[in-house]
Amino acid sequence: VVALDGADRALCCCKAAPGSKPKSLRRSRLVALHPRRQGQVTCVVTHATDSFRTLANAQVQRGDRVVEIGASTGETAWRLARAVAAGEGGSGGSKSGSYVGVDCSEEMVATAKKAHPDLEFQLLDCLMEKYRFLALCEGADCIFIDIGGSRSAETVVLVLALLLKRMQPKLVVIKCEELVADLDANTTVDDSGEVQDAAAWFTAAVDAAAKSSESWGRKKDQRKIRHPLRHQRKLAPNGVEICRYYQFGECHRASDPGGCPYEHGLCYECLEPGHRALD
Ligand SMILES: C[S@@+](CC[C@H](N)C(=O)[O-])C[C@H]1O[C@@H](n2cnc3c(N)ncnc32)[C@H](O)[C@@H]1O
Ligand SMILES: [Zn+2]
Ligand SMILES: [Zn+2]
Repeated sequence: VVALDGADRALCCCKAAPGSKPKSLRRSRLVALHPRRQGQVTCVVTHATDSFRTLANAQVQRGDRVVEIGASTGETAWRLARAVAAGEGGSGGSKSGSYVGVDCSEEMVATAKKAHPDLEFQLLDCLMEKYRFLALCEGADCIFIDIGGSRSAETVVLVLALLLKRMQPKLVVIKCEELVADLDANTTVDDSGEVQDAAAWFTAAVDAAAKSSESWGRKKDQRKIRHPLRHQRKLAPNGVEICRYYQFGECHRASDPGGCPYEHGLCYECLEPGHRALD
C-alpha cells in the first residue's frame, strides 16, 4: 500500500490470487480476499473473467453502490446486484445498495436489459462522454471495469486516472489481461499479491497511456487536415495514378462529363478496393 496523488489518497494495488475461489462456492462462504482500507482505494486487478465474477460475489458488501463499466450481457451484473442487496457485513441494513451497468454497445445494453429487466443499464462510452460518466460514478463505493478489446490496458488506465482525480471509491475491480502482464513485468508483488511499488507504476502507466492516446489522436487529425497534394503521387497496379483529391478530400472532377482521369477505385494506403485512405 503506497500513497498516490499526495498524502490523502492511496492506491492499494493487488493481484487476485489466481484460482483461489472456485465458482461453485456459496456466496455466504466467500471471504473478501482484499480488505478495504480506510481512506484508500483498494484496486484489484485480475486476468480472468471467472475471477472477476468471483470478486463481484466476494468483495461487494450489502449496501454498496456499484457501477459496472462494460456490463456486456449482464453476466456479472446480476451477481453484483445480488451482492449489494443481500451481501454480508458492510454498512448494514439501513443503507440500500444500488447497481448501474454501462456499456458502449447498443446491442449489449439491449441484451442485458432483456435478460435482467429489473436492473439498470445505460448506453454510455466512458471515454467519449466523460462528464456523464463521472456523474454516474459519483458517490459509488465499488467500480467494476472490464472493457475488453485491444489497447484495453491503456484505456483502463485512462479511465482509472479520470476517476481517481475526482472521487475515491472504496474498491475498484478490473479485469484486464494486459494490465496484469504489465504489473508482472514492471512491479514487485509480495506473497499476498500486493503490488509494492504501485504508485510509481501507476504514475508511469498514466503518463504512457496519455502520451500514446494523444499521439494517436494527433496523427489521425494531421492526416485529415493535410492538403491532398502534400501526399506523394502514387500509381495503382494498373499504372493509373491514384486521385489524391478523392483520397484525402474531395474530387470535383468526379462529376465532369468524362469523369476524373485518375484512379478512384483503390485505397491510397493499402491499394484495396472499397474504401479510401481516410475511411
Ligand atoms: C468483455 S465484455 C465485459 C464482460 C463482462 N465483464 C461479463 O462478465 O460478462 C467488454 C464490454 O465492454 C464494452 N466496452 C468497451 N469499451 C467501452 C467503453 N469505452 N465504455 C463502455 N463500455 C465499453 C464492450 O461493448 C463490451 O460489451
Ligand atoms: Zn479524382
Ligand atoms: Zn486502405
